[in-house]
Amino acid sequence: MTGTIAKSGMRSDPDDVTALDHIVDLRSDTVTRPTLEMRRAMAEAAVGDDVYGEDPTVNRLEKRAAEIFGKEAALFVPTGCMGNLIAIKSWTHHGDEVICDEKSHVNLYELASMSAIAGCMPRIARGLDGILSWKQIEEVIRPKIYYDSQTALICMENTHNMAGGTLHATASVNEICERAHDAKLKVHMDGARIFNASVALGESVRAMTKGVDSVMFCLSKGLAAPVGSMIVGSARFIEKARIYRKMFGGGMRQAGVIAAAGLLALEESPGRLHVDHENAQVLAKGIAAMPGLKIDPAKVKTNIVIFDCEGTGKNAVELCDLLREKEIWALDTATYSVRFVTHCDVDREGCERALVALGEIVGRPQTARA
Ligand SMILES: Cc1ncc(COP(=O)(O)O)c(C=O)c1O
Repeated sequence: MTGTIAKSGMRSDPDDVTALDHIVDLRSDTVTRPTLEMRRAMAEAAVGDDVYGEDPTVNRLEKRAAEIFGKEAALFVPTGCMGNLIAIKSWTHHGDEVICDEKSHVNLYELASMSAIAGCMPRIARGLDGILSWKQIEEVIRPKIYYDSQTALICMENTHNMAGGTLHATASVNEICERAHDAKLKVHMDGARIFNASVALGESVRAMTKGVDSVMFCLSKGLAAPVGSMIVGSARFIEKARIYRKMFGGGMRQAGVIAAAGLLALEESPGRLHVDHENAQVLAKGIAAMPGLKIDPAKVKTNIVIFDCEGTGKNAVELCDLLREKEIWALDTATYSVRFVTHCDVDREGCERALVALGEIVGRPQTARA
């Protein structure tokens, strides 16, 4: 393999897939490829025109997602970004504010769509490790005064990607929802990795999201489907969301082909996420022992491992480039911050290879002296 990982994390030569099987690709859990069962289910899927509501596989997927989350309805959308945008658009008016954590995906990585398309301003709160408390939210709610822009929505991210897969405690989510509703605000959860949170907390997604008005979750990340995300909520919300999905160009036709993989992802994949969390722990502990690298393994609860490399004298891009030469792919997330994400296409051996490669670059692990 030649070339380097661009800052965006994309391979410089996307057509060069020949050596993919030797690569330990820890850039993201979005890189997972569909399982054999998914590919079979896709080939055999019953399909119809979903814009007319006639795709039986999409209808099954939406029904199952709503059941699992204990909500009235669900909608299959092409991407997590579109799901978040549809929810924001559905709950707000132009000129409203949306409270979100500084490092949240809706604030940093959705191309300002909440402003560009939904006409809203992000109102930033700073959570502890990305996790917002009611106190932090309350401080940035606008007073109900006609000459102030108005707060309409609170967005929470569970797990929080850029904070290292951190978790919202369900009691805190419930408190935020109750108080938000008292203040006539809606709550949306960006649950791209909500099943990772569910496994780490040992709680059902239904219980974890009981009070929230809408949830977006991704089938295409740790759950290993090739495409697709879902939004769930009340029947009235989904009715509105369906209109915005079409307006944003997300009305799909024989989408049963991808929904078939989504159904398997939803039913089968959460059961193996604990393996990814265990692998993330192995990585975090190994990294913590290496000279110049900083991470607190106790904070790694799910499948995202973000560590600081400033002490190595190399920046994150340089470190990722050196790792890449050893067939380990990682993502630079800030000048001195590197991210590894575990998933079903990287096993324990792959994680151990990543640690060996990292050790060769930064120096031997520091072990206690006899
Ligand atoms: C927390 C979070 N929300 C939303 C998204 C967007 O998902 P998609 O890439 O399917 O648009 C991502 C993608 O990585 C994410 O990490």
